[in-house]
Amino acid sequence: MPRIAVVLGSTRHGRFGDKPAGWVVSQLAARGDLDVELIDLRDHPLPLFDGAPPAYTGRDYPTEDIARFARRIDAADGFVLLTPEYNHGYPAVLKNAMDHTFVEWQRKPVAFVGWGNVGGARAIEQLRLVAVEFEMAPLRHAVHVLPEMLLAARDAPAESANSIFAPLQPKLVRLADDLAWWADALAVARTVAAAA
Ligand SMILES: Cc1cc2nc3c(=O)[nH]c(=O)nc-3n(C[C@H](O)[C@H](O)[C@H](O)COP(=O)(O)O)c2cc1C
Repeated sequence: MPRIAVVLGSTRHGRFGDKPAGWVVSQLAARGDLDVELIDLRDHPLPLFDGAPPAYTGRDYPTEDIARFARRIDAADGFVLLTPEYNHGYPAVLKNAMDHTFVEWQRKPVAFVGWGNVGGARAIEQLRLVAVEFEMAPLRHAVHVLPEMLLAARDAPAESANSIFAPLQPKLVRLADDLAWWADALAVARTVAAAA
């Protein structure tokens, strides 16, 4: 069963991101064909990156905090990046965490769930470009939480947020079906390449 890390890319005080994170993790886990883990960047408060390029240093980690984050990324076969949009881009905290690592993401698929005035579309498009540089396979199917739904879910108690997201369920199913396919396929390909 492919291991999917759902990475919550917002850490700010009072964030909305907990609600889509809870919904995405519960929906993916309920499928039964994915081993799902939430990686909350609040649990990995990394310093601003200022070291040697991880694309060259590989798994030689300068600190245990970076190693702990990197090991969780390494263990995954695929990712769902959950992203708000800050000033028409992705959150710096998400990019900073990624910049501390490299090989852990390589040759793995990544799908996106975003929220904001245009459903996080601008942040997601930029993250797709970032993913290419990490030698990942960024996927087409995404889920975009638009303002009306965002405000309704934001103002609702946590336990009723999932029902507010329900109209997006078919899009999440397509995202997950595609992610499962790519995660399986690339896991086999990585194994074959490692044995060659
Ligand atoms: C610094 C900052 C910049 C923002 N810029 C945008 C933006 O460019 N586009 C947008 O749709 N929403 C923008 N917003 C509104 C966010 O979509 C909204 O605050 C959302 O709740 C952020 O997700 P979070 O609460 O999980 O961090 C911005 C919010 C912040 C805090």
